[in-house]
Amino acid sequence: MAATSAATFSIGSTISPGTKVSQLPQSKPLSMRFNSQNTLATFSGLKAATFVKCESESSFLGKESSAVLRGAAAPKAQKSSQRSQYNLNPQASYKVAILGAAGGIGQPLALLVKMSPLISALHIYDIANVKGVAADLSHCNTPSQVLGFTGSSELPNSLKGVDVVVIPAGVPRKPGMTRDDLFSINANIVKTLVEAVADNCPDAFIHIISNPVNSTLPIAAEVLKQKGVYDPKKLFGVTTLDVVRANTFVAQKKNLKLIDVDVPVVGGHAGITILPLLSKTRPPVSFNDEEVQELTVRIQNAGTEVVEAKEGAGSATLSMAYAAARFVESSLRALDGDADVYECSFVQSDLTELPFFASRVKLGRKGVEAIISSDLQGLTEYEQKALEALKPELKASIEKGIAFAQKQPVTT
Ligand SMILES: NC(=O)c1ccc[n+]([C@@H]2O[C@H](COP(=O)([O-])OP(=O)(O)OC[C@H]3O[C@@H](n4cnc5c(N)ncnc54)[C@H](O)[C@@H]3O)[C@@H](O)[C@H]2O)c1
Repeated sequence: MAATSAATFSIGSTISPGTKVSQLPQSKPLSMRFNSQNTLATFSGLKAATFVKCESESSFLGKESSAVLRGAAAPKAQKSSQRSQYNLNPQASYKVAILGAAGGIGQPLALLVKMSPLISALHIYDIANVKGVAADLSHCNTPSQVLGFTGSSELPNSLKGVDVVVIPAGVPRKPGMTRDDLFSINANIVKTLVEAVADNCPDAFIHIISNPVNSTLPIAAEVLKQKGVYDPKKLFGVTTLDVVRANTFVAQKKNLKLIDVDVPVVGGHAGITILPLLSKTRPPVSFNDEEVQELTVRIQNAGTEVVEAKEGAGSATLSMAYAAARFVESSLRALDGDADVYECSFVQSDLTELPFFASRVKLGRKGVEAIISSDLQGLTEYEQKALEALKPELKASIEKGIAFAQKQPVTT
């Protein structure tokens, strides 16, 4: 899903966490202008240029995507999008920490994050030696300073003053494994790392990548509660890869320009709990029943596709790094005052009877500003059935995470 804007409605700053927004956002009015006079001269997402003018998208989004979405919007929406133009602030100086940065996801993620003009410091932490990765990255002439931290004694310093913490630490799947098979190892890793986050940067946005996200996110929430610093608006399970995959597979299937497609994915992040809402695809596309079935199953099993192709060498790393970098960038733009940032994420939610649920959310300076409820309205019969079918599994995974954290209270 592209991060999209609120062109057809406006959300005031008074919206409280958990607020549901019933109208769909339609376009992305972000405007970034870099020129050769300032320090951002050669950065434009993944492109290098001495003068770059990006009219309406973030670095990990396509210009075309935004243009199509904007074109689909009403004239009123265009007016609204002009009003809410966001200019990237070249003075921005956010700090980002990646925990598990020496790994398959961590390294390419660190590289992509190093390219952001919004970051002044990138802290990379791992139990494995990460100093070489830090030395390597530090030679890239983008604005942020890179510091490496190795081992638990250096963990607190890696987190001091950080605005966004990304956690891809843990073991990945091997062929034949489900994400839940990782629980026994990754649950402890996430618990320990989130305890350190609570102690050292309790106000940071926290992005949980380590699987099983359906359980590790509730563990993180429980740890933060026990530490007395839980802010549900700032804790995110990263499901961006499901959206990236859905967009890619739909574009391929329908011969659409890859960058144009936007499919919301809701539920959770494992097997049938991953529910792409194909009926909500933008630009609007029609699918026959076979296509819906085939695409839904492929999106749900896409992680396994990669695990099997890698034949024991791990799970998705490069596409995951790309997706995670997009989510980091969206978070930084929200922190920086862009009022039109939307992403899907697994968050505390009252959209369904489940305490956590992935859906499109509006991001702001304080985290989740609103949960977009319209995606769950007017579902097809197929989607409605799939939504009901995923709930028991998602509920069990959430409860497993909460029970784990409650059985092992945090160290104070
Ligand atoms: N959310 C998603 O969409 C998604 C997608 C793909 C993979 N994942 C998950 O991301 C995680 C990482 O995958 P990967 O391929 O990078 O694995 P990897 O084994 O290549 O890297 C993991 C890194 O974590 C480090 N680590 C382990 N314990 C640690 C601790 N206590 N503190 C700090 N670092 C620690 C390891 O040293 C290693 O460098 C896995 O759990 C995987 O299942 C999530």
